Amino acid sequence: DMGGHDTYMHKEIHEQADAVDRVLRGRIDDRFSTVHLGGLNLDAREARQIRRVKILGCGTSYHAGMIGAQMIEELARIPADAEPASEFRYRNAVVDPDTLYIAVSQSGETYDVLAAVQELKRKGARVLGVVNVVGSAIARESDGGIYVHAGPEVCVVSTKCFTNTTVAFALLALHLGRTRDLSVADGKRIIAGLRRLPEQINEILKTEDEIKELAQEFADARSMLFIGRVRGYPVAREASLKLKEVSYIHAEAYPASELKHGPLALIEPALPTVAIVPDDDLLEKNRAALEEIKARSGKILAVAHREQEKADRTVVVPKNEDELDPILMGIPLQLLAYHTALALGRDIDKPRNLAKSVTVE
Ligand code: F6R
Repeated sequence: DMGGHDTYMHKEIHEQADAVDRVLRGRIDDRFSTVHLGGLNLDAREARQIRRVKILGCGTSYHAGMIGAQMIEELARIPADAEPASEFRYRNAVVDPDTLYIAVSQSGETYDVLAAVQELKRKGARVLGVVNVVGSAIARESDGGIYVHAGPEVCVVSTKCFTNTTVAFALLALHLGRTRDLSVADGKRIIAGLRRLPEQINEILKTEDEIKELAQEFADARSMLFIGRVRGYPVAREASLKLKEVSYIHAEAYPASELKHGPLALIEPALPTVAIVPDDDLLEKNRAALEEIKARSGKILAVAHREQEKADRTVVVPKNEDELDPILMGIPLQLLAYHTALALGRDIDKPRNLAKSVTVE
């Protein structure tokens, strides 16, 4: 049942405020400015002994993991990074007993992720799952974890589960942070930010008509560049994947800081750039990158917290706490991918060559 929507992708994009409500529900502890994650299976002493966090996932779940790694570093000050589960499995990685491994998966059945989990378990590592489907293989094989509670996701292309996974990581980062050195004041600040998310998502969804119009302009691009810096970079990666998957337009994501080391050579009017420009301590740096693109006659669409002069168009999204901004900034770009694909007449819920869960090697 599509509840009045033409596609599941559209329906699922519009379900995101409710989905985020669900991942937050019952988990916030205002008394200690932290969150409770019942299934984590990690006591405070263990949480304090973690020396590193390694997050493993594929595709969109990997991108959510990249955002999660940044949140864990920022809020809990534990070195963290994300890696595609398939790469991890095949490179005979060093498995370290003081590292917390986290497997991320919507379906909980992706074979590359499951195989990585099994290999880690065999070597005695502690593995948590950040999973949507309750009781799925990865959820069962993990030592504990967080259910993402996005609800069933039918469209092959992931939208609401991505958003909920990033929120689940914010909860984990806050929890680990408050077990370690994150202050009560910062805990309160993050909790207040989390509570603002559903309403802010609905605000973003109201820009749909504007984005639909933009999509008509992008539908004839042969290729697009997505850029972002630090918090914006995984958002650019995910937005680029979304566009590729549903519209079949080639897209490439790059860290904005790397532009001058190569991709600037590509800039010309026929290659539009989508830039993620949060109002954080890197705003001026990001503006300088827009200037470099403009100087080469590149067309720019900015996703930002306020109008960007150097951009041809800006989609303004509501500001949250710096650490939580990545949760919101990709949502207008889900709509952009959707409307671009619609303009091109693509099979949105079932893109060619893709399957919802990749249970094979
Ligand atoms: C993206 C997409 C894929 C999946 C990937 C992992 O829209 O559908 O990239 O994200 O195959 O799937 P899960 O999260 O089920 O492990």
